[in-house]
Amino acid sequence: MCGIVGYIGKAEAPNILIKGLRRLEYRGYDSAGIAILDEAGKMVVVKSPGKISALNEKARAEWPDALFTQAPTGIAHTRWATHGEPTENNAHPHLDESGEIALVHNGIIDNYLALRARLKDKGHHFHSETDTEVLAHLVGEFYKGDIFHAVCDALHQVEGTFGICVLATREPDRIITARRGSPIAIGVGDGESIVASDASVLLAHTQRVIYLDDNDVAIVKKDSVDIRDLDNIPVNRKIAELEMDASAAEKGGFEHFMIKEIHEQPEALSNAIRGRLDFTHGTAVLSGMGTSPRELSELGRVVMVGCGTSLHAGLVGEYAFEELADIHAEVQQAAEFRYRNPILDRRDFVVAISQSGETADTLAAVREAQQKGAFVMSLCNVVGSTIARETGRGVYLHAGPEISVASTKAFTSQVAVLLMMALKLGRGRRLSREHGLEIAKAIASIPKLVTQVLTQNAHIEELAAKYVKDEHAFYIGRGLMYPVALEGALKLKEISYIHAEGYHAAELKHGPIALISKGIPVIAVACDIPGKDKTLSNIEECRARGARILGIVTEGDTAAAARMDDFIAVPSTHHLVTPVPAVVALQLFAYHVARLRGKEIDQPRNLAKSVTVE
Ligand code: G6P
Repeated sequence: MCGIVGYIGKAEAPNILIKGLRRLEYRGYDSAGIAILDEAGKMVVVKSPGKISALNEKARAEWPDALFTQAPTGIAHTRWATHGEPTENNAHPHLDESGEIALVHNGIIDNYLALRARLKDKGHHFHSETDTEVLAHLVGEFYKGDIFHAVCDALHQVEGTFGICVLATREPDRIITARRGSPIAIGVGDGESIVASDASVLLAHTQRVIYLDDNDVAIVKKDSVDIRDLDNIPVNRKIAELEMDASAAEKGGFEHFMIKEIHEQPEALSNAIRGRLDFTHGTAVLSGMGTSPRELSELGRVVMVGCGTSLHAGLVGEYAFEELADIHAEVQQAAEFRYRNPILDRRDFVVAISQSGETADTLAAVREAQQKGAFVMSLCNVVGSTIARETGRGVYLHAGPEISVASTKAFTSQVAVLLMMALKLGRGRRLSREHGLEIAKAIASIPKLVTQVLTQNAHIEELAAKYVKDEHAFYIGRGLMYPVALEGALKLKEISYIHAEGYHAAELKHGPIALISKGIPVIAVACDIPGKDKTLSNIEECRARGARILGIVTEGDTAAAARMDDFIAVPSTHHLVTPVPAVVALQLFAYHVARLRGKEIDQPRNLAKSVTVE
């Protein structure tokens, strides 16, 4: 989603900001812009619809070379359109009425129409359709020579969410940044400070980071960071060390981040599992859950919340919790959960699943669950993310940065961690040591299973070539293979733009089968787990209507493979673990189809990596 970068330091602000924006490209955007203070102390702004490369070219054409090497201060933004189309006028930064204050903003100002009308009455002129321009003007309206106070006064009037950076010509030694609901990280460098909505941007400069909390406002100078609340009361935020490795955010010889991340899965999964399985007691060690055995035994229900791919991981979790821990488990779409007035009490164990830890609906679901007294924890990948911090207890995936919008290694790591959580919960309840050991061993084998699927990359690429011209595809599965079908279809539609839908195989007869006609591809996830035979019958129903079947089957299951036109065989394992190798096959399939169709795989149209607005 939208991205923010601000820099104050030595020189070369435009180059640094453009590099920072490039780091944010993966989040999804449709226009970009940059504001710099030039040598004469004037605000200069360049904005452009489309890619960062277009912005860069425009800046180079319009600005003198010296600006690129000498300007020490600036702010920049990638915009993912919410209010108004992705045009140059609507792109950030936005200026106030005087043109002396520039502002970039992530989030949504809910009361912008009322504020805009008020400001118009006072003689303000607006040049865009955005809520952000209203905020820039509001800051200008309050400005009396102290930009920090003007920002605080403006934010007091604002309803909604924001992460902002503000620059004023009359105070060139500072950038003001603030957050409510939209992340801001400040890198504390050596004679330079860098502000960003995503900590990965800071890596090129420093490992030292301060994360703002909601309603924090910071005065960022090149050698100091002063944080206060909206009422000017100083607040203390610790400097943390970034755990990321800069090379993790590079493609490392792969054509796309997505294929790199698919191949990283054995390592990511090893990191997620390492040190967390106890082969003596047949359990998992997840200290971040912060639960005593007594608390575990008293839990009445597991409710997982998440969106997109994380929601699909939760669907796998349902099976694991119910089977291993004998506890009622369900996953709910976070946006639905937050607004349905969920029935919760202190025996409910709410698990927020979010790769980024910033998804607006999942965060709101966490707050709702906390409000209602549930026992809330998180399962995030991004260390220090808002959901991880607000839940206080949780388990990190340690899968490393996931850059591709289409999530791959986060999903498989989420499944692995959910299995370990279910194992731990199970052992605190009815699960025997022997059964626990069997599960622990199966979980430990996951990285190897994934490596085995990855060796089939070339075969899957060949298969992809056979399906590349189709415009529709149906994915079907039952039981644990149902979430895999949903996730496989999601991957294909996200990056190839083929209309792909995942269905429970039993639901076919209740409607979707009407769409099956000669030649339509049906991707049947028919690994050898309980219920497989029923799926095979559903496959026959599709075949009878002329569908072409691409099966995901278990290695050695020749009877199942014989029912398919094409198949990918994945290694045999414990049924609870099967979703992982099965989904990896479908990730590769989606990737190769999209690549052969020439799509922009890492930044699919209209999609954002982290959805920080509702
Ligand atoms: C966006 C991304 C998806 C992701 C979903 C939830 O839609 O494009 O890949 O699954 O958000 O994100 P989260 O960070 O909460 O897992």
